[in-house]
Amino acid sequence: MTVGIIGGTGIYEIVELGRGVEKKVLETPYGSSPEISIFKLHDKKVVFMSRHAVGHANPPHMVNYLANIWALKNMGVERVLATNAVGSMTQSIKPGDLLVPHDFLDFTRHRKTTFYDDRVVHVDVTEPYCSQIRDILNSSGKVIGEGVYVCTEGPRFETAAEVQMYRKLGGTVVGMTGLPEAVLAREMEMCYTSICTVSNFAASISPDKLTIDEVFDEVEKKRDVLIDLISDTISKIPAHCNCNCRNALEGAEVKTLNQSEDL
Ligand code: HPA
Repeated sequence: MTVGIIGGTGIYEIVELGRGVEKKVLETPYGSSPEISIFKLHDKKVVFMSRHAVGHANPPHMVNYLANIWALKNMGVERVLATNAVGSMTQSIKPGDLLVPHDFLDFTRHRKTTFYDDRVVHVDVTEPYCSQIRDILNSSGKVIGEGVYVCTEGPRFETAAEVQMYRKLGGTVVGMTGLPEAVLAREMEMCYTSICTVSNFAASISPDKLTIDEVFDEVEKKRDVLIDLISDTISKIPAHCNCNCRNALEGAEVKTLNQSEDL
């Protein structure tokens, strides 16, 4: 089984735990992938990719999500662990906490959101994050629990009114990078789970002006815990899936007239 890691801000060091690191860049139908590191960890093949590319070059709305997910699929990845920095929209969830989303609200606006422009495919995302890997994470003792991930277009932070609205709609944490990544992984029938590092209180929950320095500082402080959690999770992911992620395309495609005539 091959596990993919999509690293958000600052977990590149996980590569150092692996044996026999090999690096490559894949050409995809959507452009070049970021540099990918391939290595062995706990006798599993691991493919690591930095979402924003080297040196955090791409802002959230410019990340080439299609190239990233296509590249992981074509490297044989079956299960993806992603990391995302988020702001907390509730006082009880604090900077430094790790949270696993079980659902999302997608407020992105200008991103390409599907691989299927020339076929009519409607994947089911009732449960967008892999239940089997979430169970492993939730029993690790390192995450505070689950919640609803709100994805905004960015790159600006939210207004106070937006945060109040997202809260009323059921959002727990807010970030800019979780979508369309989770949906694209589902379209490619890969299990996908996110581990969110709470880097700050969201706008208006925090009395202070938000800065990217506090986001990076908090993520940096959690880096070793996050890397340990990812490593432990990889060791525990069983070869056998008991989730439905890899049958996502079953019953999802509309048979167009030409395809029906062929049957
Ligand atoms: N809002 C949006 N994205 C974020 C935040 C936030 O408060 N913190 C880290 N990523």
